[in-house]
Amino acid sequence: MLIHSVTELLTLAGGPQHGAALGNLGIIEGGAVLVRDGKIAAVGKTDALRADYKDEPELNASGCVVLPGFVDPHTHVIWAGDRAREFEMRLEGAKYLDILAAGGGILSTVRNTRAASVQELIQQTRPRLRRMFAHGTTTVEAKTGYGLETEAELRLLEGLLALDGELPIDIAITFLGAHAIAPEFKDDPQGYANLVCKQMLPAVKKWWQERAGLRPLPFVDVFCENKAFTLEQSRQILMQARELGFPLKIHADEFDNLGGASLAVELGAASADHLVKTSEADIAALGRSETVAVSLPCTPFGLAEREYTPAKKILEANGVLALATDCNPGTAWNESMQFVIALACRFLGLTPAQAIAAATINAARAIHRDESVGSLERGKQADLLVLNAPDHRHLGYRFGTNLVRQVVKRGRVYEVNADYDEAA
Ligand code: NIG
Ligand code: FE
Repeated sequence: MLIHSVTELLTLAGGPQHGAALGNLGIIEGGAVLVRDGKIAAVGKTDALRADYKDEPELNASGCVVLPGFVDPHTHVIWAGDRAREFEMRLEGAKYLDILAAGGGILSTVRNTRAASVQELIQQTRPRLRRMFAHGTTTVEAKTGYGLETEAELRLLEGLLALDGELPIDIAITFLGAHAIAPEFKDDPQGYANLVCKQMLPAVKKWWQERAGLRPLPFVDVFCENKAFTLEQSRQILMQARELGFPLKIHADEFDNLGGASLAVELGAASADHLVKTSEADIAALGRSETVAVSLPCTPFGLAEREYTPAKKILEANGVLALATDCNPGTAWNESMQFVIALACRFLGLTPAQAIAAATINAARAIHRDESVGSLERGKQADLLVLNAPDHRHLGYRFGTNLVRQVVKRGRVYEVNADYDEAA
C-alpha cells in the first residue's frame, strides 16, 4: 500500500532525541510511505514513490498530517471498578496520599480487582485499550499493581497477555507488585517489600517463562514515595529484579522527592516516571544518562494540582523526555495521548513538535521499543496515523476532540473518524 500526497509527513527519523535536539520531526512535505507485509518499505516524496511503485493500492492523505502511532509508555490500564466518589472527595479537600493511608485510593481498586475474574478484568480493560487505539496509541505500556498478592498479580499479567494477543494495539507489560503496601502488611511495610523480593519476583519470572515463551521479561516498577516504598525498599526491590534479569522502571517524585530518579539512573533503569518534585541533582543525573524521563501531565491535571514536571530543566540538562497518560482509575483516567500533548504544551512549556517527539520516538525508548516503533523509517513496523489536520501544530493547539482519521497498525488500516472527515 502506498500512502501518498501527505501534506506533512513526520518521520521522526534518527532515534531518541536528547535535550535540545527534542522536536526534530523530520518533516517531508508532499510525502509518501510504502507499506509492505506490515512494515515500512520506503519513505520519501510522493512523486518519486509513485513513479517507482505504480500498481500499489493507494491511500490518499492530502490535507493530512501522517506521523508514527503514539507510544504511551506508562499506564495502569488493567483494573476493576472506578473511583468517582474519591474524585469528589478530593474536590472537597481530601488529599490523595491521605486517602491511600486510610485504606482507600489504590487499595480501594485493589479490593475490586482482587474480587474480579480474569474474564471480568479483560472485559473492563478492553474498551479502554480500544479507546486508546482510536485516539492513535499503537503501542502501550501496561502495569499490574492492583493485586498486591502473587496470585492476583499473576491474574493481571494473564489478562494483559490475553489482551495483547486479542487487540491490534501492542502491549509492553510491567510488573508493579510494589505499587502500594498490601493491606495485609499495613503495619509491616518492610515485610511486604521482602515478600515482593523473595516470593513475587521469582514467581513472576517462572510464570512468565512458562506462559509468555520467548517474549523478553516484563519491566519491574516500584512506587517510590512517602506512604508507599522508601528509597531503600525501592533499591532492594529493583536490585533483586535486576539480578533476576528484569528491565527496570520507577515511579519517582510524584508528591515528594526521595531520590528515586537518581536511583533509576544508578541502576540503569529504562525510565523514571512522574518527576514533579525532582531535585536539581536528580535532573542533572537524568541528563547524564540514557534513562528516559517520563512526564505524566494528566496526573497533576487529574488531581487539580498546579505543579508539573520541570520539563525545560530536564531538557537543559540533556535528558531524554517522554510523555505518557498514566491512565489509571485514581489520578488520571484518560486514554488520549493527544490530550497529553495539549497539556504538555500548556503546562510543561513544550512546543507541539517537542511534545510529538516525546510521545513517539522518545516514548518508544522508554519501553525499549525504539528499534521497532516510534518513527517512520524503512524496516520499522508500519504503525502510523493519518490526522484530520493539515499541520502538526494542530496537535497541542486543539484538544478534547479526536484528530485521528485512520490508524494504520502493522500495515492494516482502521477507520476511526470517517464520519467527520474534513480532509480531501
Ligand atoms: O501513577 N502513583 C501511583 N500510581 C498511579 C495512581 C494509581 C491509583 O491512584 O490508582 C499514578 O498516579
Ligand atoms: Fe503511574
